[in-house]
Amino acid sequence: MPVLNQEPAKDLGGRDGLPKLPLPALKDTLDTYLKTIKHLLTEEQFSKTQIIVKQFGSPGGVGELLQRKLEERRENKANWVYDYWLNDMYLNNRLALPINSSPAMVFPQQNFRAPIDSLRFAAHLISGVLEYKMLLESHALPVDYARGQLAGTPLCMEQYYRLFSSYRLPGLERDTLVAQESSVMPEPEHIMVACKNQFFVLDVVINFRRLNERDLLTQLTKIARMADSEEEQLPPVGLLTSDGRTEWANSRSVLMRESTNRDSLDMIERCLCLVCLDEPSGPQISDTTRAMFMLHGGGLGKNGGNRWYDKPMQFVIGADGCCGVVCEHSPFEGIVLVQCTEYLLKYMIGSPSKLVRAASVSELPAPRRLRWKCTPEIQKLISNSSDKLQRLVKNLDMNVHKFNDYGKEFIKEQKMSPDAYIQVSLQLAYYRCHGRPVATYESASIRRFQEGRVDNIRSATPEALAFVRAMTDGKLSTSDTEKMEMLQGAIAAQTEFTITAITGTAIDNHLLGLREIARELRIDQPEIFKDEAYVISNHFILSTSQVPTTVEMFCCYGPVVPNGYGACYNPQSDHIIFSVSSFRESPETRSAEFVTSLAQGLLDMRELCNKCNSRSNMNTRRRTKTMETHTQTDTKWQNKTPQGPFDQNKSQKAPPQVLIKTPDQAKMEAQTQTPSQEEAQASKKH
Ligand code: COA
Repeated sequence: MPVLNQEPAKDLGGRDGLPKLPLPALKDTLDTYLKTIKHLLTEEQFSKTQIIVKQFGSPGGVGELLQRKLEERRENKANWVYDYWLNDMYLNNRLALPINSSPAMVFPQQNFRAPIDSLRFAAHLISGVLEYKMLLESHALPVDYARGQLAGTPLCMEQYYRLFSSYRLPGLERDTLVAQESSVMPEPEHIMVACKNQFFVLDVVINFRRLNERDLLTQLTKIARMADSEEEQLPPVGLLTSDGRTEWANSRSVLMRESTNRDSLDMIERCLCLVCLDEPSGPQISDTTRAMFMLHGGGLGKNGGNRWYDKPMQFVIGADGCCGVVCEHSPFEGIVLVQCTEYLLKYMIGSPSKLVRAASVSELPAPRRLRWKCTPEIQKLISNSSDKLQRLVKNLDMNVHKFNDYGKEFIKEQKMSPDAYIQVSLQLAYYRCHGRPVATYESASIRRFQEGRVDNIRSATPEALAFVRAMTDGKLSTSDTEKMEMLQGAIAAQTEFTITAITGTAIDNHLLGLREIARELRIDQPEIFKDEAYVISNHFILSTSQVPTTVEMFCCYGPVVPNGYGACYNPQSDHIIFSVSSFRESPETRSAEFVTSLAQGLLDMRELCNKCNSRSNMNTRRRTKTMETHTQTDTKWQNKTPQGPFDQNKSQKAPPQVLIKTPDQAKMEAQTQTPSQEEAQASKKH
């Protein structure tokens, strides 16, 4: 199989016409670096760092040499940072994939009344996957256009082509992202179905005919029956994939000693995706529990072994209606995952199930159960992996919160960027809980450029710190007007950083490039990368990401450091869904407290905006009144009053509860959220 991260630049669909990622100026990056870390360090640490950074950037110094080399690299590659970034962000990371790396989308709770209902859901979903795959194969997927800030530019589409065709192969030191390509071997034509920790090959093309939904249901019914057969139960080999990457690489080489296992591994590695038919995992009820089960499967006692974490797309369909998709993150970003998932869910609403009853079982060959030869050594490895997964399961402290008091419409009415506002609220929440600012990561898409993935918006800005201090110090000395000015300053700084990042000139990718090219050139690691400040600035205690949806579902993921929080948010017009995670083993963090403080902060920020708005409205009214008195005109001053920014009744209205919003509902919502015609134009191109 070809290796994705070492591919030469060539058109994989959609690269044409996009500019190359720019290389920021060295001085700009170093100046911004100092600005972003100053307030995260002690004075002593910062003085030391200032000297190191100055030395690195001095004329004729190592920084300039590395910058020149990066310029050459930019000339020769479609994207100068892509390989470095992929390795650093994912493939070099040795941590287990569940929770630590693989995000999940949680679907609305489904109401399955009988076991056959979940199989019907699965058959319908697989039908959608096959439709989507046809779109991909014929390159018929419409190009995405940027929304929000700097809307309207086309985006790189490459990530889509990896959804159903890549595989993360574990390695002893570094994993490899491999791709399936039709020129090398036939396209995969099977899906793996996991059921009761067993894996079944579901061929989706038989005798040159693509299975329809009825056929799929027939095959799934057979699989469910075969999985029940006690005497054929094989050990839960999938647990091995939930282990640390080096451990899994070692176990995989033990598995590979047996030809039966090699064949089974090959089938899994070449499948389109996994469909995990899960057992009920206990009382679900809340979004929080469903998010947890989606991220880790609940360990061996539940559905932890019913997974294969290396495969990018694992659709989970629980008999109890707990459904979603778990993703191996290295081939694509959450936004691409959302687009694909929304297509599937909208397909399921838009195309009514074509099932009346299952087709005759005898027509199609039975799906094949994957065989494993498990020596006592392998049994032991599985048991070790299971223990480690169990610890991860216990460790996850998850809290999904639907903040219903207002959403992005209120924020837009304040003439503020909703994303920047939410980021400032996250800074406020952390500061309230912990009394200090910390290095924060916010993913910013750089898909405006060839092979673009993400860079980092460092949201812990000095301006945000000034605001959160003013909001928490309890002093009456800071007036509301001053606080409001600080909030506006924090939002302006955050918005400016966002624009820098999405236009490809943020600092994290650049610093990574300088570090990695030094390594490649076998230059002694420059002091700037050995400095304590560099470690602190890359220890992302707050790992945040906006993952908006137009269908009712939400994204969740784990923290990236032991004492950190994962905070994913989905802003909607009148509410915001937050998925906050942390580790129970850390004495520092508590997701529930963080969420309480976040919700309180959002209320405080609204109150501040409302107070300042009503004051400024009053002042405007007074000014108008004075003018009226002077000019003796009978102008209706009410008409001149700026519109009340916030309609309490509107914001408190509960959103309609539907299992999955229909495409029409979503379209209407999108239209009502679109402020200008140009933007409406851009959003129609999705
Ligand atoms: N006044 C009024 N409205 C404003 C405004 C202001 N000052 N600033 C922004 N808005 C509007 C925008 O026009 C936009 O309108 P729309 O909802 O009609 O599109 C809306 O508010 C949202 O804009 P904003 O909140 O500024 O954010 P954004 O949508 O531009 O998103 C990022 C910012 C950084 C999240 C986005 O650029 C990005 O990179 N997303 C990808 C993140 C990612 O990769 N996530 C997955 C990681 S796995």
